[in-house]
Amino acid sequence: MSLLQVKGLSKSYNSAAKVLKDIDFQVKAGEFVSIIGPSGAGKSTLLRCINRLVDIDEGEILFDGHNVTRLNKKGLRSLRTNIGMVFQHYNLVPRLTVIENVLHGRFGYKTTFQGLFGRFTEEEKERAFFLLKKLGIAEHAYKRCDQLSGGQQQRVGICRALIQDPKLILCDEPIASLDPNSSKVIMDYLKSITSELGITCLVNLHQVEVAQNYSDRIIGLNKGEIVFDGPTIRLKSTHIENIYGMETRELITS
Ligand SMILES: Nc1ncnc2c1ncn2[C@@H]1O[C@H](COP(=O)(O)OP(=O)(O)OP(=O)(O)O)[C@@H](O)[C@H]1O
Ligand SMILES: [Mg+2]
Repeated sequence: MSLLQVKGLSKSYNSAAKVLKDIDFQVKAGEFVSIIGPSGAGKSTLLRCINRLVDIDEGEILFDGHNVTRLNKKGLRSLRTNIGMVFQHYNLVPRLTVIENVLHGRFGYKTTFQGLFGRFTEEEKERAFFLLKKLGIAEHAYKRCDQLSGGQQQRVGICRALIQDPKLILCDEPIASLDPNSSKVIMDYLKSITSELGITCLVNLHQVEVAQNYSDRIIGLNKGEIVFDGPTIRLKSTHIENIYGMETRELITS
């Protein structure tokens, strides 16, 4: 069964032109799917629609059987704990420690009081360490996040998403600020951890090659429309041309 179903989704900002047009796709539990497309294609907007950081104009989004567009406050809170987010610029609190940032991922489960006073259970702390170990950064647990490299900070960002115990992780350009080596480390972790923990992963990427190396499936967006959706092995250079239009030549020859 599909974990996520997007049906006839359209979205515009401030009643301007549509930035997403009649988007239809489904994601099965456990799939690793990349969304590729040129700048401005609507990749980030699509992720924001899925966890309802923005409201959609038309269509429906069903997540784990719930209609995302019709959730009340409580439903929205539960949606956000079930969907982890990983960002290009990590979105950590720089002056807080690694472990504190990871535990922030539990806020969705807390009352305001517990959250404000940083009340976390032993179990939550153990889980945080378990995840930091998995991502190879347990030794940095008590360092401030701003003392870590970009790649290490992104691993903290992934731990923070994972400690939510999410069903789905949405990653918006998780490696766009990283050098090739750190990018590989992050993608390797993302792929292995999500498959090990049975978490579905939807990743926006700029690099076609990275999408090809890691994804079960690729969705290609161009000007707010899906122009390719299929298993990674089916993505050919003609599809890449359709996705990127005139910018493609160098992508294909590189
Ligand atoms: N908050 C906003 N208000 C108005 N327009 C927006 C807003 N966010 C995005 N847009 C517009 O929506 C379109 C899609 O933007 P989006 O950020 O989703 O693209 P993207 O594919 O993620 O691009 P990039 O690869 O550069 O991150 C663009 O034309 C952008 O200018
Ligand atoms: Mg974007």
